[in-house]
Order: sequence, then C-alpha cells, then structure tokens
Amino acid sequence: MKTIESRYDGSATAYRTWWEPVLAPTARELLDRLERAAGPPIGRVLDVGTGAGLLAIEAVRRWTMVEVTGLDGSAPMLVVAEAAARDSLVSSAQQRISWLRGHAERLPFEDESIDLVVSSFAYQLVPRLTVALGEAFRVLRPGGRLAFVTWRSADDRFAPDDAFEDVLDELEPDDEPGNAEEARAGDLASAGATAARLRRLGFRSVVTREAWLTYDHDPATYLDFLEGYAERELFADLQPDRRARLRNGTAERLRQLPPTAFRWHVPVVYALARRPESIERGP
Ligand SMILES: C[S@@+](CC[C@H](N)C(=O)[O-])C[C@H]1O[C@@H](n2cnc3c(N)ncnc32)[C@H](O)[C@@H]1O
Repeated sequence: MKTIESRYDGSATAYRTWWEPVLAPTARELLDRLERAAGPPIGRVLDVGTGAGLLAIEAVRRWTMVEVTGLDGSAPMLVVAEAAARDSLVSSAQQRISWLRGHAERLPFEDESIDLVVSSFAYQLVPRLTVALGEAFRVLRPGGRLAFVTWRSADDRFAPDDAFEDVLDELEPDDEPGNAEEARAGDLASAGATAARLRRLGFRSVVTREAWLTYDHDPATYLDFLEGYAERELFADLQPDRRARLRNGTAERLRQLPPTAFRWHVPVVYALARRPESIERGP
C-alpha cells in the first residue's frame, strides 16, 4: 500500500509551485505566535513533515541561535527543500539547516535531544496522531516546546472544485477524483479537543486557537493548479481526448463563476505546548 508521504514523491516540485504559497502565511504565523509566547528559540529545532522546507527555512532565517532539521517521509520533497534553502538562504544560515528522511511516528532522535518541535500542515496526514505527538514529547528536552498548525475538520464546499467535479461526472471517467487532500484522516476536531489530547500526553502551557486560512485563488490559473497539482494524477491518467474535454469543460464552468467564488476560506488550529521541566500537576 502506498504511504501518504510517498504520494508527495511525484509532486514535490509542483507542491512548491502551487501549494506552498497557499500555506506559507499561516505557517509563518505559527512562528510569530510561538515567538510572542516564548521569545526567540535557541538550540535544536525539528520541523516534522517539512515538505519543501517552508518552516525550517523560515526558522533559520529569523532565529540566529538555532540549528534546524527538516524531517520528511518523502525523499523527493527533501531534495526540493534543499534546493529551496540553497536558493533563499545566505551560506551561514545554510550551515544551520539539515534534512533527514524519517517518519513522524518514529522520530530518529534521542530522548530529550530537541529544544523545539514545529510542524505545519503535516500532522493531519499522520496515521496515528497521538503516537506522533507522543514522539514529539519524547524527543523534547524538559522545558522544550511544541508548535504546530494544521486543518480543523470542515465539510465546506469550494465552488471551483464543484465545477471541476461536475465536468468530471459528465465525462464518467473510470477513476474517482484523486484529490491530494482526501486522505487527511487526521484533521483536528477542534482546538479544545487538541488541547485535551496534548495535556493527556503530558504537555503543559497548552494554548490552542482556531483561525482561518484565506487564500484568493487566481481564476485565470485555477485550472492550471488543478491540472498541475491537485488533480495531477487524474489528468495524467486520462486519454488525450478525454483530458482535453475535462480541461475545456472545466475552463468553461470556471469562467461562469464570479471572482469571489475563488476565495478559499478554511479553518485551522494552532497549537503551542511545552514539555514540563519535571512532573507538574494541573494545566
Ligand atoms: C502538506 S505537506 C506540508 C509541508 C510543509 N510543512 C508546509 O507547510 O508546506 C505535508 C508533508 O508531510 C509529509 N508527511 C506526511 N506524512 C508524514 C509522516 N508520517 N512522517 C513524515 N512526513 C510526513 C509529506 O511527505 C509532505 O511533505
């Protein structure tokens, strides 16, 4: 069976082009929130599910006293991350960043060896979230911090996607839509449930907040986004004539939507927590 990370193997470059810009402001806001709560971190930082390196690169850029490891299950993602770091960081910052293949549920680090674990939009993909958060707890030194952001579950519709699926239904293809986000089994139920889960694992100073990620997709390029990233495998599997019909039919439907329909507005949960210095009671 294909793992979730392996599904990113074939779309690593497309991810950085099409999807990272959607997530970037919210991911960076996570670091702002952490800094407001706890000041600039120092020491060893681990970015779980680093993808194209968004948080890891931002962490070395803004915090001069950290060394960051970007960890991901997908080797091609790490190749893209490494190239992104080379392109965007000065060499002294590049020396403080490294990349490692590994799984969120089995972090390849010693107990109590990390000062800060961060993660953006990766924990929703982990099959056993409690195990993964427990691993974060294990590798954190006493007093170390965890900061992550991911989706809160919601079933809101997005009109441009509905338009695409209507055209797909009319074509009656053999396959179901291969929406890359469908396997997000671990979207968080709520900020409160997330806080309770973290406290059960032993974290303290837990602060969780719901917020909204808003992104104005470009009506002129949304079809390119579908074909180049979100529905890439589906388009690639179609015969050329059916692919052309799907593309032309979707383009026609998208043209009928008002620009406001391309505003994507989805809930997220930010979570900050601290591993206690020693056994502590209470919240
Ligand atoms: C949606 S991307 C987010 C990437 C990046 N953090 C960002 O905000 O742009 C999710 C990433 O998590 C990785 N991933 C998924 N499950 C994982 C797991 N169990 N262990 C490690 N990485 C995982 C995927 O390979 C992918 O690169």
